[in-house]
Amino acid sequence: PADPANLPPNNPPWTTTAGYGVVEYPYGMPSPYEANVVRRNVDWLTADRIASISFTPLADLSGIITPNGVCFERHHGGCADINPDEHRLMIHGMVDRPLIFTMDELTRFPSVSRIHFLECPANGGMEWKGAQMTRLQYTHGMIHCCEWTGVPLSVLLDECGVKPGAKWILAEGADAAGNHRSIPMDKALDDALVAWGQNGERLRREQGYPIRLFLPGYEGNMSVKWLRRLEVGDKPWHSREETSRYTDLMADGKARKFTFMQEANSVITFPCPEKPIRQGPGLYHVSGLAWSGRGKIRRVDFSADGGNTWTPARLNEPVLSKCLTRFEIPWTWDGKDAFLQCRAIDETGYVQPSLPQLRAVRGTNSIYHKNSIYTWHVLPGGEVENVQIS
Ligand code: MTE
Ligand code: CO
Repeated sequence: PADPANLPPNNPPWTTTAGYGVVEYPYGMPSPYEANVVRRNVDWLTADRIASISFTPLADLSGIITPNGVCFERHHGGCADINPDEHRLMIHGMVDRPLIFTMDELTRFPSVSRIHFLECPANGGMEWKGAQMTRLQYTHGMIHCCEWTGVPLSVLLDECGVKPGAKWILAEGADAAGNHRSIPMDKALDDALVAWGQNGERLRREQGYPIRLFLPGYEGNMSVKWLRRLEVGDKPWHSREETSRYTDLMADGKARKFTFMQEANSVITFPCPEKPIRQGPGLYHVSGLAWSGRGKIRRVDFSADGGNTWTPARLNEPVLSKCLTRFEIPWTWDGKDAFLQCRAIDETGYVQPSLPQLRAVRGTNSIYHKNSIYTWHVLPGGEVENVQIS
């Protein structure tokens, strides 16, 4: 017999009284019933405020935009809390006119808005040697995708006049960590932004308020938050953040430097460990996200048999460059064990590698740039677990 709550006339009590008034919440909040959709951290990864990371709740999000309040955060020296009236951006070094900009002067420049993902190169980095994380939030949640508004860095460099022979730019944040990174001049002149807007509002403090550098497609560490200084030079600086950290330790013990690009990657967001199958065997729409630091996603393949056979999924519009792309594919679950995988192919033809393929080239010493294909094991009860198969 049907649950009486699911029969006509479907007139719940809240149809009979007025709700709360406008400006009850001058800055709106999600429904209290969505209180579970929050950033989370892993206690053994984030002991203190010195070097911490939180993760985006990807399983609960739809489309491609990450709401500002749940964008993952990565701080090497805690989150700076800056009064924009007191903040300045200095550009100096190999320039004709060293300049210092106030926020009012920066926002006077013509702006552009672009939708891009930002991914920490450590995303998935806990799983080189084996599967250990039990949530999608922790396997892939070091990524967010927002509309960023700011002034192209090329415009500011033009204002300062870059001297001949200048090839690199050092970016430094105003936080305790500084997070010094050397940026190649071609990237700075291509699509780098000095951003103050995030999904229509000013940057959140966690994302670098009042301004951050944004380097589309490059490893998240290079998008320096709370940006206070850009020094133009003719060689890289080899700072701590690009020698001791953010290098790829290879199998032979040598470290590979300056792996800027976030290569193509993808993950299934339904079903997943946090979103098991609750309604038994039948037709479902598998959904997920794909992205590439090199440009647009061209195709995403889906496998329900651990990578033996593949079917192309549908890509949902819009499909943008260096941006999350949502894919979906109908799948009829027979109620038995299934091994779900997805694999992204980008517009350059790059194919996301399997875990054995990636390990063959990179070994297992690394932390960074692990973009291999993931496997979700759907159990007969509909629960989903993170596994690795060879
Ligand atoms: N910039 C400064 N100044 N300080 C930092 O700690 N963390 C970096 C980068 N920029 C960091 C920084 C790292 S490792 C990443 S992955 C991104 O910011 C994270 O950006 P988000 O906090 O907006 O997610
Ligand atoms: Co990072």
